Amino acid sequence: MSRSAHPAGPRHADVLPEGHYSAPPADLNALDPKVWAQTVARDADGAVTVGGIPVTRLAEEYGTPAYVLDEADFRARARAWRTAFGADADVFYAGKAFLSRAVVRWLDEEGLNLDVCSGGELATALSAGMPADRIAFHGNNKSEREIRRAVEAGVGRIVLDSFQEIVRVAHIAQELGTRQRVQIRITVGVEAHTHEFIATAHEDQKFGIPLAGGQAAEAVRRALQLDGLEVIGIHSHIGSQIFDMSGFEVAAHRVVGLLKDIRDEHGVELPEIDLGGGLGIAYTSDDDPREPHEIAKALTEIVTRECEAARLATPRISVEPGRAIVGPTAFTLYEVGTIKPLEALRTYVSVDGGMSDNIRTALYDAEYSVALVSRSSDAEPMLVRVVGKHCESGDIVVKDAFLPGDLAPGDLIAVPATGAYCRSMASNYNHVLRPPVVAVRDGEARVIVRRETEDDLLRLDVG
Ligand SMILES: Cc1ncc(COP(=O)(O)O)c(C=O)c1O
Repeated sequence: MSRSAHPAGPRHADVLPEGHYSAPPADLNALDPKVWAQTVARDADGAVTVGGIPVTRLAEEYGTPAYVLDEADFRARARAWRTAFGADADVFYAGKAFLSRAVVRWLDEEGLNLDVCSGGELATALSAGMPADRIAFHGNNKSEREIRRAVEAGVGRIVLDSFQEIVRVAHIAQELGTRQRVQIRITVGVEAHTHEFIATAHEDQKFGIPLAGGQAAEAVRRALQLDGLEVIGIHSHIGSQIFDMSGFEVAAHRVVGLLKDIRDEHGVELPEIDLGGGLGIAYTSDDDPREPHEIAKALTEIVTRECEAARLATPRISVEPGRAIVGPTAFTLYEVGTIKPLEALRTYVSVDGGMSDNIRTALYDAEYSVALVSRSSDAEPMLVRVVGKHCESGDIVVKDAFLPGDLAPGDLIAVPATGAYCRSMASNYNHVLRPPVVAVRDGEARVIVRRETEDDLLRLDVG
């Protein structure tokens, strides 16, 4: 059986299916540092190593599929964000991207704060010892129980997302005899994604309170009147996987406009502004993300300029990067199962995981890259689609990529940049067991989230 892409060879574009893929890379063994974690390299035998450990050893010890996370890289990225924003600003890591107790400890040690958006994330943060005053609590529909837990724990801020919540949080804080620090999340009519953003008057989404129609101003007016609340600022989050800073420019202009209206109407200058997360990373070599210091400089300049124009003191800025910290630090290690060449189309490579460990391709049409990691190969490139083992034709991990034509069952392949929104969005579809997260640092590996077992599945199924 031939395992090459198709008889004409992958470079014959006239017979290739339409797709998003570009030409095959010049060297299929190369590992682009833009998409791979910092300590990833190929050893003299051709196998990929991370933190000094060959992936073949990781697969033997921990099995596949597995998320492999480069702890040194995570810490370095967290530190780079912290340093870039300096002492006059705050960086809240967005736990929704990926959260575990080990991650919470790393964040604590590196001086970052943490944004959580559910009782479960809050419990994880508190159980790992994150000081409550460094936690921000988000969510568009927090339950009373979650709010009570957050207030009792003494979280540094609750981000209010609706008129009902303003009253709920104030009431609970008062009942508990405290004053809760809050920000009010507004929607400014900016929708940003990758290289484009749209600025509109309205935003059709579930989060936040619209600036349009004076609703955000009304929310602030109400919150300022409630004894249980200390309103510390305004929050705005405009999208995800953003490379172009101009969406933030429009958002900051509109948020600062609101701060000015609040000052003029109530004589209060709110001291904080949070610009959310959403900064993009490289999933493929075509993506060009900005460095944290460039982002910090751009955001600080934008806010300072807008505040000077509005004659306001520049508020303390905070940001909430999730993907930009954890995304590039991990890859998913899979074993190749079956290989199906489809004449004049592409070769389907099935792996031992799939949409249950990475839903982003099916959900967002996300692009990923992939590499053969258990060995190097000089074989011709073949156009592949990496698919999972689920009973679902949309179970695609990597839509279009090139792997060596001598790829064989049992080879290990890895998909880089899966640190964010993969384990945290993982499911048990088809009762497939969720993979472990193995953290690697300085030649040592340890499991920080263990592999799910059939016993775990059956424990929840009480018959
Ligand atoms: C309010 C808020 N902050 C931060 C983030 C983190 O975004 P990212 O991981 O893209 O940086 C999100 C993501 O949805 C969010 O909704």
